[in-house]
Amino acid sequence: MSETAELKLENQTIELPVITGTENEKAIDVSSLRGKTGYITLDNGYMNTGACQSAITFIDGEQGILRYRGIPIEVLAERSSFLETAYLLIDGKLPNKGELENFTNRVRRHTMIHEDIKRFYDGFPKDAHPMAILASVVSSLSTFYQHEEARPETEQISLNTIRLLAKLPTIAAFAYKKSIGHPFMYPQNSMSYCENFLHMMFSTPAEHYEVDPVMVDTLNLLLILHADHEQNCSTSTVRMVASSKANLFAAITAGICALWGPRHGGANEEVIDMLLQMRASGDSVKKYVDMAKDKNSKFKLMGFGHRVYKNFDPRAKILKAQCDKLLDKLKVSDPLLDIAKELEEAALKDPYFIERKLYPNVDFYSGIIYKAMNIPTRAFTVMFALGRLPGWIAHAKEYGEEVGNKINRPRQIYTGPNLSEYIPMDKRG
Ligand code: CMC
Repeated sequence: MSETAELKLENQTIELPVITGTENEKAIDVSSLRGKTGYITLDNGYMNTGACQSAITFIDGEQGILRYRGIPIEVLAERSSFLETAYLLIDGKLPNKGELENFTNRVRRHTMIHEDIKRFYDGFPKDAHPMAILASVVSSLSTFYQHEEARPETEQISLNTIRLLAKLPTIAAFAYKKSIGHPFMYPQNSMSYCENFLHMMFSTPAEHYEVDPVMVDTLNLLLILHADHEQNCSTSTVRMVASSKANLFAAITAGICALWGPRHGGANEEVIDMLLQMRASGDSVKKYVDMAKDKNSKFKLMGFGHRVYKNFDPRAKILKAQCDKLLDKLKVSDPLLDIAKELEEAALKDPYFIERKLYPNVDFYSGIIYKAMNIPTRAFTVMFALGRLPGWIAHAKEYGEEVGNKINRPRQIYTGPNLSEYIPMDKRG
């Protein structure tokens, strides 16, 4: 017999089905609750709400487990490439040799953006935030690929998936070049995905740029680690927008905007800003740790804490090791990195952080690594977006394929005024 939960409400006992996931996680299905009782559930910040059933990514926050389509992140980090991981997330299985070659070649052939898009960059102020540029340009892609209704829907989604994966690095690198007044460097389709991105970012027509294989490997790792994280704020946003049947470019644009915030992907940029502030002030690390603990101060240690991971963030663990390796190899010496290490040590042994299970998260180490790679601080969240793209696409696709899917439309408990009069202007105080 299937498991049920009982809810006692007024004089009624309501039976609600229990849904069990493949990793034995449990949910009470409340979809019939309002119909049966008139009550809804209320869950501020969705701390306790499952918004969907999904077969893409599994996280166990207590044990620090993260798996894409069942494969542990540690294994993918060691053995996979970003494009292979993207295929896994989007198509649901690891590609065979031919499938991966075909996928990679398709991505290679779509790396250029329409020449007219280049002109948009002239209109942005020089100091425009690259996340704003990324969102605007990705949104504009739907104006370039709008008359494709003749294609079957699955073909459109597949082609737009390839276009997004191929063009996002180009759009991002052009945003950086614009900010420093350098000419755009066109993609080189003979290069691998990560090599090509570094080439577009750091080469100039005036000088040969040798892409460092250590940087390529590090970028590949960073993108894999960011590729999906189940129902986080930006992915839920993508699913929400996709649920209205808006096109894929629109849904991904919404995801980029949600990612931008400092509580989410924007935290990697904030980590460096915080470290810079610490250095400039000359104050001790202890002073900042104390400030983060002080409930009267709004200050938080950026790059610490996570909604789901209450033990450790497995991505952060992998990145910490890579961070040490990279800094050692590149012989980077940077006072900010020393402050970061001191801060990490101080927080990890502080009872406030221990009791609340606040550990350095993926953004803490990724910020430090991007800095060592010479990625400009304001582009850190753009890097996160490049990595998260396959996850967003996979979720939009999964939502689209769900039988009987519905528009996502939460309810609310209204707390405003009761029926009120419209007071004419001359009678208002
Ligand atoms: N510094 C100081 N105190 C903190 C921090 C922090 N970074 N994070 C959480 N706390 C405290 C918080 O004040 C609360 O204390 P108390 O129980 O006394 O009220 C307790 O820890 C629980 O925190 P919460 O805010 O209720 O937890 P949450 O799940 O709502 O928020 C979070 C998670 C990531 C938004 C939050 O930890 C945070 O703002 N961290 C800094 C920003 C950051 O690094 N974000 C990147 C997240 S990882 C990448 C991603 O998913 O995008």
